[in-house]
Amino acid sequence: MVAPPNKWHQYGFTRSPYSTEAIKVSEDGAKLLVGRDNELDTILSDLNSGAQVIALEGDYGVGKTSLAAVAAYEASTWRADGGPLFLPVKAEVPLRLGTTETPESFEKKVYMRIAGTLLLASASLKAEGRHLEGLERLRRWLQSPEGGGWAAGIGASIPAFFGFNLNGSRTRTPNTSGGFSDTGVITLIDSWLAELFPTPECGGVICFIDNLEELENVENAVKVFEPLRDTLLRRPGLRWIVSGAEGMVRTAFSTPKMSGVFQEPISVLPLHPDLVPSVISARAEILRQDDSSVLPVSADAFEKVYLAIGKNLRFALGLADKYAMRANPSHLRTTTAAKRDQAFDTYVLNESNQVVGQLGKKIGTADWKTLGVLVREKAGSCSPGEYRDFGYTAMPPLLTRVKSLREAGLVRYTTDESDLRRRIITAENNGRLAYYSRLRSDEELHGVAAEV
Ligand SMILES: Nc1ncnc2c1ncn2[C@@H]1O[C@H](COP(=O)(O)OP(=O)(O)OP(=O)(O)O)[C@@H](O)[C@H]1O
Ligand SMILES: [Mg+2]
Repeated sequence: MVAPPNKWHQYGFTRSPYSTEAIKVSEDGAKLLVGRDNELDTILSDLNSGAQVIALEGDYGVGKTSLAAVAAYEASTWRADGGPLFLPVKAEVPLRLGTTETPESFEKKVYMRIAGTLLLASASLKAEGRHLEGLERLRRWLQSPEGGGWAAGIGASIPAFFGFNLNGSRTRTPNTSGGFSDTGVITLIDSWLAELFPTPECGGVICFIDNLEELENVENAVKVFEPLRDTLLRRPGLRWIVSGAEGMVRTAFSTPKMSGVFQEPISVLPLHPDLVPSVISARAEILRQDDSSVLPVSADAFEKVYLAIGKNLRFALGLADKYAMRANPSHLRTTTAAKRDQAFDTYVLNESNQVVGQLGKKIGTADWKTLGVLVREKAGSCSPGEYRDFGYTAMPPLLTRVKSLREAGLVRYTTDESDLRRRIITAENNGRLAYYSRLRSDEELHGVAAEV
């Protein structure tokens, strides 16, 4: 059977310009990052000034992982200009800290990634005249059955290092090297870190911990972080970029037990709408196959929707991606730009009308107003303490509205019993869409031009 045509090729791109994947640590990644100059400056200055743990706080899908990746990439380029050596860990997916993680299991995961990173860097380090003592022994052990667990944990980096496919295109050599224990490998790697980074000014391996909000509450966050605080997070040669949503980083890191360990978290706010068209045009530039390519969702149409759904980049990208996958490339390629924009607008409107049509619960005018302020003015997330911005003089009436919207599946309300400062109202994706539908029907009702 012949494979069907690739949709993105039909539009004239190598792949989707609307992918919701985070930006990777790479030169192309750095070209894709739009705005964030101040945040980048702060992270880079912190890194170069010896800060060991840098924290990023921002809503879901706002761009934390991408910012961390580009910062790490930029720091990794300093060496070529005679600056410090920063090596971002090589990993397909950033590390997450689950509630079931023990300090030992986490340490092992971290060191597997560091091992992969140093092994990959060993050739360029050698070219600089820097020798990693014991490298050959570790290499032999990793190729042996005993080292298999570590080799698999190091994962993607290993084939490139060994020049063969881990899945077995070459038989592994038997272990003739005298083995390593977990602590043996960690000690060896620590000796390399000490050699490469005798002082913080020399640089370090940059490790990432993502999505701290998955620890669910501050109590868990403190419990998981405290044992790491004086060990892994303080280890010479390691630098950390930790990120999270829902106020977790800011609240957990300002508890007395954590104070002084972390830098003041850097807030990652929604990207300014004026910058958003460049997100799409930068992607189009890199992914374009030829001059005849056509963006199914133009940069301007994307900006309008981004603004209307409350400035969430991940969600807006997801809508554009889904739409383009279902639209007809040959039709879109031949129609006018205005009609293309119109078609995307109609799609988003239909999606949002559907959400409203399927609401199992009646939403009153006051609820809609609350949802409107949350999406439009708070970019979909705020603390209940901000009740005045919703037109209330106290918190309880706002919480009544939030309860009703929550029952309708339009918002989420996180209350953290372990730390009452951490209470966050967040718009669900359906809440963002429902707001859009309401906005458009209001406009129609009042005869306002359908412009968002
Ligand atoms: N400054 C930016 N310039 C261009 N694209 C960006 C920027 N920030 C984020 N993006 C894109 O937006 C999407 C969401 O970004 P990212 O995954 O980094 O967000 P996040 O805050 O880490 O999300 P989550 O809270 O879900 O982990 C990705 O597709 C990413 O490529
Ligand atoms: Mg992320």
